[in-house]
Amino acid sequence: MNAEVSLSCEGIERFLGEEDSRVHALRGVSLQLERGTVHAVVGPSGCGKSTLLYILGLLDQADSGWVSIENEPVSHLPDDVLAKRRNELLGFIFQFHFLLEDFTAQENVMIPMRRLAALSEPEMHERSAHLLDAVGLGAKLKRPSRHLSGGEQQRVAIARALANNPSVILADEPTGNLDSANSRRAFELLQRIVQEERKALLLVTHNPEIAEACDWIHEMQDGLIVGSHPRGRR
Ligand SMILES: Nc1ncnc2c1ncn2[C@@H]1O[C@H](COP(=O)(O)OP(=O)(O)O)[C@@H](O)[C@H]1O
Ligand SMILES: [Mg+2]
Repeated sequence: MNAEVSLSCEGIERFLGEEDSRVHALRGVSLQLERGTVHAVVGPSGCGKSTLLYILGLLDQADSGWVSIENEPVSHLPDDVLAKRRNELLGFIFQFHFLLEDFTAQENVMIPMRRLAALSEPEMHERSAHLLDAVGLGAKLKRPSRHLSGGEQQRVAIARALANNPSVILADEPTGNLDSANSRRAFELLQRIVQEERKALLLVTHNPEIAEACDWIHEMQDGLIVGSHPRGRR
């Protein structure tokens, strides 16, 4: 066991769809994410990127293979334990951020905290305010998220992903609906947090500039990782 590894998976396979139209969406994917590192997954539409993130995020189960987070095998836990571990260990960011529009920025960040129920109400208020401050939204805590710009909403989603201090952050095209300046800003913010707090980030992206700024790039094709390169060596 390697204490520096936050997340690893081995031999992940997944079949999707009905019997007459079954898709072999993942055909044996293995990965290791070390603490403090940022990994990009790139590849054409339909190659299995989102399916992989769902399985690593414990939102879907593989048909074979295993997932381990913080050296704990997590892929075969019973549902209630799995939900708890997901809340404790993982943060999620998606392209369409799924903020609750009528809720304030701060209330949105407190949602995962309420689900985990580890902090008191004042502690949740304090932590959510601190996280929003860290993403540059300290002055907009009480603003309903519908009144924030796209870039600001994505930063709320980043703060929300960090709510329960996860070891691993999974992001599926997190900057896909932002302009390039806001994309870069959101990415650099995540990168800094991952490095400073020794978390691990796995990010699906179509943006070559972002992929090339990651520590590793994994190229996927037809349900397999066909190449993994450290930064600057392609
Ligand atoms: N719920 C589903 N039922 C059937 N097939 C699916 C389902 N979800 C995804 N697929 C198929 O699995 C493959 C991988 O999809 P996905 O992981 O979404 O790819 P990507 O995120 O790389 O675009 C695709 O062929 C897709 O059509
Ligand atoms: Mg996808």
